[in-house]
Order: sequence, then structure tokens, then C-alpha cells
Amino acid sequence: MRKTIIAGNWKLYKTINEAIELSNGLMRDLFKIDSQGIDIVLCPPFTALSSVSEVILESNIYLGGQDLYWVDEGAFTGEISGKMLKDAGCSFVIIGHSERRQFFGETNETVNKKIKAAIVNSLTPIVCVGELLKEREAGKTFDVLKDHVQNGLTGIDKEDILKIVIAYEPVWAIGTGKTATPVQAQEAHKYIRDLLAKLYGQDIADQIRIQYGGSVKPDNIVELMKQPDLDGALVGGASLQINSFSEIVKKALEVIK
Ligand code: PGA
Repeated sequence: MRKTIIAGNWKLYKTINEAIELSNGLMRDLFKIDSQGIDIVLCPPFTALSSVSEVILESNIYLGGQDLYWVDEGAFTGEISGKMLKDAGCSFVIIGHSERRQFFGETNETVNKKIKAAIVNSLTPIVCVGELLKEREAGKTFDVLKDHVQNGLTGIDKEDILKIVIAYEPVWAIGTGKTATPVQAQEAHKYIRDLLAKLYGQDIADQIRIQYGGSVKPDNIVELMKQPDLDGALVGGASLQINSFSEIVKKALEVIK
């Protein structure tokens, strides 16, 4: 059985004080839930990691970074390493988000290096894959997913693939209010799982968690979570408010697979 994972990607939002307020509120709302059934992850901006880490210490909520550089230390101005994320209290790290691919030159090659660096530093990578609107309209969705998954995971062996979470995020659904329908999401998730089965065997593919991301809200999480290959969500906008994120977590927990 795959454990559900709901992660909040705060992107370029929240000062330290705002981040403390949000994580305190989430603690109040979520500390009583049965965390056996779910992993909850908060991914604040780098500046707020340590403060949020203190708030959620010894709780059922995990901390994640939004990116990392693949070298542990060195002359790389502006970068943050896996070792530093670990030091700040992180257990997870988002890698290859479409905003990084679009605006900051992230490629499958850099994604691959970052995944390996995360694993070396005992961080669980949340590896984002997904097609642009024009790629979907041109019927290239599966080709893009194959390219992102296969090339992003080059050289990752059977043992390490089990430490990875994949996030399917159709780019046209991110921040647009346009969610993929549950059927579209399931179709993409199933394609990714079948591909993982070809690469690593069915037994391993069945254990890998695949999250959906793109305009996830309290009112669409249940239908999405009912899909057999959908194991959780990577939430952007709706993770910035206590109520909406808590509601997403609680509703996801109701859908028992
Ligand atoms: P959104 O973002 O929920 O605001 O669409 C999702 C993401 O970018 O991970």
C-alpha cells in the first residue's frame, strides 16, 4: 500500500513571520489527525525553513525545500545544497518544478544530478514532471512524460527509486484554476506507473508514490484521490492558507484505498 502524501509548495510567498503564523495554524488544525495514513509536507522559501522547522518539531508534519544544488559546498553564489537543507530540518525537496524548468533553465540533466544529491543527503526528492498546454494539444503528453521520467531518472537504481516521489503536474493546470479532470490525471499517472514498471519491474512501480499537482483545492481533492494511481497532491496556491490546506489534508485522508 502506498502512503498518501500531501505537500504544500509555498513558492515565493511568506516572510518569516507569515510562515510561522501559517505553520502554527496548521499545527493546531492537523496535530490530532491520524498521521499513520498520510505524510504532510510543508515547503516554505529557504529563508523560513529554520523557523518553520522549530514550529513543526516533533509533530506529524515534515519540512521540504523547493530546490537544491547538487554540490554540497563550494563557490556557487546563491545556491543551497542538500546538506544545508538537511541541516535546516528538511526531509523532502521538490526537484524540477515546471517553474524552474521554464524560468531558471532546469533540464532533465540538472534534475538528475539534483535527485542524486538529494538521495545522498537522505532527502526524499519530489520529482516534478508534466506537459505544457501546447504539448498536450499536439498529442505529445506521453512523449513529454517519458522524456521527463526516463531522462530525469537516468542511473537511479532499484533501491533508490523507492526513495523518490513523482509529482505529475500538467503545466497548464498550475496556478490557472484549471485542474486536470480526474480521468486525465489518472491516465497520466497510469502511464507514468507503467513506464516505471518497464524500467524497474511492476513490484517496484506499485510502491512508488505519484502525486498530482495543478490547482488542487478542497473541492476537487476527493475526486482526484479516488483515482487508483493517484497517491496525493502537490499543492501551490491552496497551501498558503490554513483552512484550505488543512481541508485538503483531511479530505485526502477520507479517501481510503
Ligand atoms: P497550484 O500550484 O496548486 O497553485 O496550481 C501547484 C504547484 O505548482 O505545485
